[in-house]
Amino acid sequence: MSFVDDPRQGYDRLRSQPLSQDERGQWVVCRHADVVGVATSPGVYSSAVSRFLQVPNGLDGPTHAHARAILDPFFAPERMAALEPLLDGVARALVGGLPRGEAFDAVGELGARYAVRAQSAWLGWPAVLEERLLTWMADNHAASRSGDLDQTAAVAERFDALINGIIAPRRQAGDDAAADVTTELVRIRDADGALLPDDVLVSVLRNWTGGDLGSIALCVGVVAHWLATHPDLQVELRDAPDAGLAAAIDEMLRIDDPFVSNRRVTTGTVELAGVTLDGGERVVINWTAANRDPLVFGDPNTFAPVRHAAKNIVYGIGPHVCPGRPLATLELVVLVRALLTAGRLELAPNRVPEREEPPVGGFQLVPVILNPS
Ligand code: HEM
Repeated sequence: MSFVDDPRQGYDRLRSQPLSQDERGQWVVCRHADVVGVATSPGVYSSAVSRFLQVPNGLDGPTHAHARAILDPFFAPERMAALEPLLDGVARALVGGLPRGEAFDAVGELGARYAVRAQSAWLGWPAVLEERLLTWMADNHAASRSGDLDQTAAVAERFDALINGIIAPRRQAGDDAAADVTTELVRIRDADGALLPDDVLVSVLRNWTGGDLGSIALCVGVVAHWLATHPDLQVELRDAPDAGLAAAIDEMLRIDDPFVSNRRVTTGTVELAGVTLDGGERVVINWTAANRDPLVFGDPNTFAPVRHAAKNIVYGIGPHVCPGRPLATLELVVLVRALLTAGRLELAPNRVPEREEPPVGGFQLVPVILNPS
């Protein structure tokens, strides 16, 4: 199997070097200890890597902490508990409509559509946006692979316009705006009583959506592939409590982490993995490689949810650790529950799963069949 077949093999090889440089001259860290070191040293490795406003992703220090304090409550346990029945309905309806005994693509036909419907349910976005959001996801995916900055900027602008079209009517409706998460965000007031400006709202929603849509679709592909190739686990998980299911999903994602990397920039001279870096150098954190580090996990392909949980960094670590983890976990748990209840997942015969290409991981195509259990 070549690097293109499964980029994880390339990352595993890269990890044998303490530090390497990619074609753009960025320093890539792959070892678990180094990745944790970079991600938990925000004073040395800044997240201000983009010239665009990124709330909270691109913020540092107290400004970042302030943004997280305002935004993290959106993912509080009681909110997730209240959302569960809604997402459960979305998952059951979608799985109920899947063909039985016939092949379908777990990423495109299930993961992407589920990501859009679940997110729209959470944010209170209308169902008519579904096809537009799906098209945007596909275009965004193509743009990020192209490396073409103009194409990427054009796709980002289209998304901003879409979000502005959601925010504006809520601003205009004032007290009469629909009671949903997006309206709550629009109504947030800062310490000085001012509403969040539109560019901040757009950035927050872009990061929530960017964090959610593509990653959830890829996560569904990885999880469906793992389940389809591990029939005994499907039987075991069918009766597992939600926490057990969540732990199993986390472990599948650790072994095959589709959310590959994030970037940092050094704030001054620093020694990283034995190499002295100047200030202003770009550093890429490779979560996928770190989550497969044999020094921490032994054989990285061994499925051991309980043993590996504490070191699993699929959702990051440090001040920028994923705020959306509770939502992502809930979305994945209710979908897997719906699939396991509906039947037995198998890889479609004579069809081959296709791996994604960097900068993302996981699969772009997982042909599966849902058979009665
Ligand atoms: C689906 C699986 C997901 C994975 C694997 C994932 C993974 C991650 C990781 C590794 C980070 C750390 C970034 C860094 O250190 O620079 C992160 C941050 C973030 N994630 Fe997620 N995420 C997921 C889902 C979500 C969801 C559902 C949302 C929101 C709806 C979300 C929103 C964010 C945001 C806003 C940040 C930036 C936090 C900050 O900079 O303080 N993610 N995510």
